Amino acid sequence: MHKITILNGNEFIYKSNNSKILEDGSFTWKAPSNIALVKYWGKREYQLPENPSISFTLSNCFTETTLEFKKSQKPAEVSELYGDNDFKQTLTRKESVFEIFLDGKRKLEFEEKVGLFIKRISQLVSFIYDYDLVINTHNSFPHSSGIASSASGMAALALCIMSMEKALNPSIPEELFYKKASFLARLGSGSAARSIKGELVVWGEHREIIASSDLYGVEFPHKVHDNFKNYQDTILLVDEGEKQVSSTVGHNLMYGHPFAKKRFEQANENLSKISTALKNGDLKSFINIVESEALTLHAMMMTSNPYFILMKPNTLEIMNKIWQFRNETNANICFTLDAGANVHVLYPEKEKETINNFIISELIKYCENKNYINDRIGFGAKQI
Ligand code: DP6
Repeated sequence: MHKITILNGNEFIYKSNNSKILEDGSFTWKAPSNIALVKYWGKREYQLPENPSISFTLSNCFTETTLEFKKSQKPAEVSELYGDNDFKQTLTRKESVFEIFLDGKRKLEFEEKVGLFIKRISQLVSFIYDYDLVINTHNSFPHSSGIASSASGMAALALCIMSMEKALNPSIPEELFYKKASFLARLGSGSAARSIKGELVVWGEHREIIASSDLYGVEFPHKVHDNFKNYQDTILLVDEGEKQVSSTVGHNLMYGHPFAKKRFEQANENLSKISTALKNGDLKSFINIVESEALTLHAMMMTSNPYFILMKPNTLEIMNKIWQFRNETNANICFTLDAGANVHVLYPEKEKETINNFIISELIKYCENKNYINDRIGFGAKQI
């Protein structure tokens, strides 16, 4: 069997020949959150998806990260003993030196996750160990909103690291820059691979999407119908608490899940169908696939063992109200869900006024503290 390693894709290994000298400096990137239309749920080593997914890039929900770097006087080295009693050896390895601040406050709990991320990507960006790093990050949405910041956060950080690579090696082609950023972001959080570039991004190999890959996200390669231009997403914050179940735990529950195989096949079929709908402007099919994907994601959680329910009573109230409104008015409104209780309400720009009125008069009351975020499709990350 073909063995996939973290280094799969040698084109992504940083080569230090012809490098410029880089002493200190900083780079800032703003990376968006994304909302999956066909969901990624189930992964294998290393952060490879069991099925392809597609998402809308968001615009108002983003993370802005500044990475400050300074050449270490002496790159930190850690000595570790490894091996069993008969064969003990001292392994000297380098360790990155970094601190993370969220809105100016040191965030020790992020440092473990990012430390692991840096270790994972270190073979691909070996220069990283030569620097002391300070990461300053800010999310446009409140930390407690229940909106995952891992996609936008890991994407912004991966892009800052790629800017360092570009400063060292200015000849890196633009295409490779973004591909590698997505590859690195994926190693931090799977869905982050879809938060780099483009309005609609596919991550995971699919027979009909040219150049699609399990290793990084690619822009949806077809012309999208005008019906989907500037598509709207109102995020209803039903439950602002921290997630009850981490995505990683959830993904792992797809191992040995009784319906896993069928689910992965279905995601492939749904990606074909939604691809056709996006090209033809078929809003009714789009709505059907998107809602079915959201409910299937939650059905997978309910039918795993251990089983869990992340929807709240108000999530169901909102879904029922949306169905009722759609039946009565034929409006092209639909919902999707993440691994949580919040509801993303999706609709075309053309119907914005009527649907906004409906949301405000009928749905906001189900949100915690009446909180919601008006968002829409975005274009991808931007260097600041
Ligand atoms: C339900 O990307 O958060 O939002 O790879 O473990 O970091 P990790 O998981 P993550 O999973 C996202 C799952 C989802 C569906 C999706 O975005 O496709």
